[in-house]
Amino acid sequence: EKGGYDHFMLKEIFEQPQTIFDSLRGRLDAKKGTLTMGGIREYAEMLSKANRIIIVACGTSWHAGLIAEYVIEELCRIPVEVEYASEFRYRNPVVGPGDVIIAVSQSGETADTLVAIESAKEKGAIILGICNVVGSSIARLSHAGAYTHAGPEIGVASTKAFTAQLAVLCLVALKIASEKGSVSAQRFQHLLDELEQTSDKVATALKLDDQVKAIADKYKDARDFLYLGRGYNFPVALEGALKLKEISYIHAEGYPAAEMKHGPIALVDENLPVVIVATKDSYYEKVVSNIQEIKARKGKVIAIVTEGDQTIPPMADDVIFVPSADEIVAPIISVIPLQLLAYHIGVLKGFDVDKPRNLAKSVTVE
Ligand code: M6R
Repeated sequence: EKGGYDHFMLKEIFEQPQTIFDSLRGRLDAKKGTLTMGGIREYAEMLSKANRIIIVACGTSWHAGLIAEYVIEELCRIPVEVEYASEFRYRNPVVGPGDVIIAVSQSGETADTLVAIESAKEKGAIILGICNVVGSSIARLSHAGAYTHAGPEIGVASTKAFTAQLAVLCLVALKIASEKGSVSAQRFQHLLDELEQTSDKVATALKLDDQVKAIADKYKDARDFLYLGRGYNFPVALEGALKLKEISYIHAEGYPAAEMKHGPIALVDENLPVVIVATKDSYYEKVVSNIQEIKARKGKVIAIVTEGDQTIPPMADDVIFVPSADEIVAPIISVIPLQLLAYHIGVLKGFDVDKPRNLAKSVTVE
């Protein structure tokens, strides 16, 4: 059942080239330049006219929502807020007709997310569900939606569901943008091509497994980890830190790289591994300066960079090269080494990575 892998988590990490392909299949046709989203067709025009979009989710799905916020604002020019479902529900939020709520949930059964959308629906908002489990409660409660088609995820740590969420949320953003006319025909086509190529690029990134394992071995005894990224890669840093916490019980924090100088930099010394997602994008030059700030304080830098990068490698203690991609789809690829890092550290420390302590696969209590 684990398909020859030691754990479900590793099997699911390695399934990603296929699951990403499955999440796009029948929807995206880059050759023809078309995008079909059956589950939102009726609502496409309404979505494009939304005053604002509120994304509600928990955990890893919330991280996918944070990336979607940047993508939707960039491509659709609609204001987006991302809320922890539990916070959104209990603070009497201003929500009503004309608002669109996107609920992101692997299981479709997360109680916090479910009650949040129930109350928003009662107040007249339109609910769009992005779920993995077909027929789940959140999917049934939604007016419209798109399944992620990642297949059953058994490992408690979400991996393949996350990358499928990112792929589908990109499709939704592109669909709204084309309906609205807020993206040029050329950029639209370019992003279809980029999305189509992500599956192969993820397969390439998975070949780094041995290299990541060696890095895991080097840093497995660290007491704390810091994860940094900017822009589209900032939520990837949060996700990397969450994976490490869940699987290896090492304290880890994710931060926007530039925010470091406003506090967390006080933690940096020669014992602190700092994982920096620094792929080539519009934030790149700034991230290079953030790396210099860490090295000046003797932090250990583990950098995730784009193939061909010659600037960061001489500055970093360890480097992982990932295939180059448009910044909008880059998180789908840059998260792969972070999933592998958490997995290997957890296994090297002797923990049950498929069933980490204190956690359940689906959290059905508020
Ligand atoms: O099923 P959901 O996507 O709604 O679950 C949300 C979180 O409980 C989930 O992502 C959790 O944070 C995972 N254990 C992360 O690996």
